[in-house]
Order: sequence, then structure tokens, then C-alpha cells
Amino acid sequence: MEEQKKILCLGLVCLDIINVVDKYPEEDTDSRCVSQRWQRGGNASNLCTVLSLLGAPSAFMGSLSAGPVADFIMADFSRYAVDVSSVVWQVEGQTPSACCVVCPPSGSRTVVLSDTNLPDVTAEDFSKVDLRKFKWIHWEGRNADEQVKMIHQVEMFNSTLPQQQRITISVEIEKTREPLYQLFPHGDVVFVSKDVARHFGFLSAEAAVKGLYSRVKRGAVLVCAWAEKGADALGPNGLVIHSKAFPPETLVDTLGAGDTFNSAVIYTLSNGGSLQDALTFACRVAGRKCGFHGYDGIAQI
Ligand code: ADP
Ligand code: FRU
Repeated sequence: MEEQKKILCLGLVCLDIINVVDKYPEEDTDSRCVSQRWQRGGNASNLCTVLSLLGAPSAFMGSLSAGPVADFIMADFSRYAVDVSSVVWQVEGQTPSACCVVCPPSGSRTVVLSDTNLPDVTAEDFSKVDLRKFKWIHWEGRNADEQVKMIHQVEMFNSTLPQQQRITISVEIEKTREPLYQLFPHGDVVFVSKDVARHFGFLSAEAAVKGLYSRVKRGAVLVCAWAEKGADALGPNGLVIHSKAFPPETLVDTLGAGDTFNSAVIYTLSNGGSLQDALTFACRVAGRKCGFHGYDGIAQI
């Protein structure tokens, strides 16, 4: 029997050292946290975690550098049954790591990431991937010049196939970095963050999806999440779809809420759900996620 096709996510994997505090620390003070844990992080890596917890087979492609941090990360990928056969082992550079401060009373998550010298995955690395294994490929916007070349490889592959066998392409434009904006016309589904939306002068998700829609390709869907305001999306029929947020009883941990949201959208759309179903489900899952630490509670949803 043919193996079930997976969802491949390309982008960052890092170590998150998460400090949970009951009050955000003042600069130049020395305080104790409530708890501390290590967690595998990075947007694309988090997407794989959530896809696995939702029950969809996933694969990760990104860079790692051998050592104790990579060992921790690989063991964790294995715990979530994420396929890591496309990971690129770099011989130079350090595996990225982040100091994260999660502050339940305010709901804030503050991240300081060290991601300095590990080379990114290239289009040449990507050319070795067996595309037949995947039904959906997602790119977290990073080295966009190379990522556009990777997407072209998928478009070439798709052009040889009938519509229903083609790989769906999604991209996330989260950071306000000019080179990332070239990704807008390359996704069937494009996720744009509220940071980027604000950078373009939009004050709501609805304004953002309307205002940025001219940048995406014909037929594409543009999605914008907006924390406690929920999320909006716009597709080729010109109708803006909205979902409200579903706040948990108590805010606990908002780190990775956006990744959880994106993952749940991909999960729903890749199973043939409607855009409205995708937004509502994603806001429900992301909202629930804000009510517990980490991601494991998603398996109970
Ligand atoms: P991030 O900042 O992690 O990239 P967002 O803040 O845009 O992500 O949130 C993504 C989704 O997570 C939102 O659409 C919403 O559904 C949910 N979410 C985030 N923060 C909250 C919150 N405080 N209350 C309820 N839902 C939230
Ligand atoms: C959450 C996250 C963390 C990581 C940071 C990197 O969205 O991926 O896991 O530390 O963002 O920017």
C-alpha cells in the first residue's frame, strides 16, 4: 500500500529555554522564575509538533549542527514521530537557541533568539527531496531568495501532475524584513503576521487581507491572525472570512500560538475543509493552547 502523503515544513528549529515568571523582570535585576523547561522550538518545527498532535503525518526540513542541543532536538522530533530524513546537517555554525520568558499574568511571551551562523537550507539541498512523499509543503520565510527557487522546483513537479495530485504550497511571512515580501506571490496559502500587516499600515486583520491581497497569486488564500481579535482570510471569491478568538479561561502560555494557528489551518485545508472551517478550528486550537504550557494538551482537543 502507498504510504500516506505527509506535510513538509521548512524553516527554523531551535532550542527554547523557557522561563515562566509571575512578573516580567526589571532590567538589571536578579530574580527567580516559577519554572524552567527546555522545549524544541522554531516556527516550522512547532508546526510539525502541532500537526503530529492533530494526527497528520509531518516532516521537517531545516538545518542542525551536531552536538548536545541537536541531540535534544532530534530526540524530541522522534517523540512526536516527525520525519527528519530531510534535515540538513551543517558542518559549520551552531544550532540556534532562544531564551523565552513566558508571563501568564500578562499573557506575554518574550523571545531572544540566537540564530547567527548556521547556514540555511539551500535550493540544492531541497532538490534532493523526493517530492512524491508530500501533499503539502510549507515554508517559514527565511532565506527567501533560495526559498523562491525551492518553490519553483515544486511548481515544475506540479506541472507534470493532474490537479488533485499536486502539492499545495504555503508560505509564512512573519518578520518585517523586505526580502521576505517576495514570497507573497508564491503560496497557494499565504500567512501574514500582524507585525507585517502593521508594518504596511493595516490596523486589523480584515484591512490587511484586503490591502495585501493584490500581492498574492491568482486563486491564492491570504490569512492573517490577530491574537485576541481572532483571524481573517481572503480567497479568490473576494469574501473576507472571519473567526473570533476563543480565549482560554486563564491565559498561561502564548508562545507558539501563531504556529499552532497556522498548523491547524493547514491541517483543515489539507483534509478538504473550507476556509471558514479552517479559521474557526485554528482559532479554537490556538486559543485552547494559550491555556496550557507547551503543545501536548492539543492531543486532547
Ligand atoms: P503569534 O504572535 O504567536 O504569532 P497571534 O498572536 O497572531 O500569534 O495569534 C495566533 C492565534 O492564536 C490568534 O488568531 C488566536 O486565535 C490565538 N490567540 C493568540 N493570543 C490569544 C489570546 N490572548 N486569546 C485568545 N486567543 C489567542
Ligand atoms: C514561536 C517560536 C519559538 C522560537 C521563536 C523564534 O513562534 O518559533 O519556538 O523561539 O518563535 O522566533
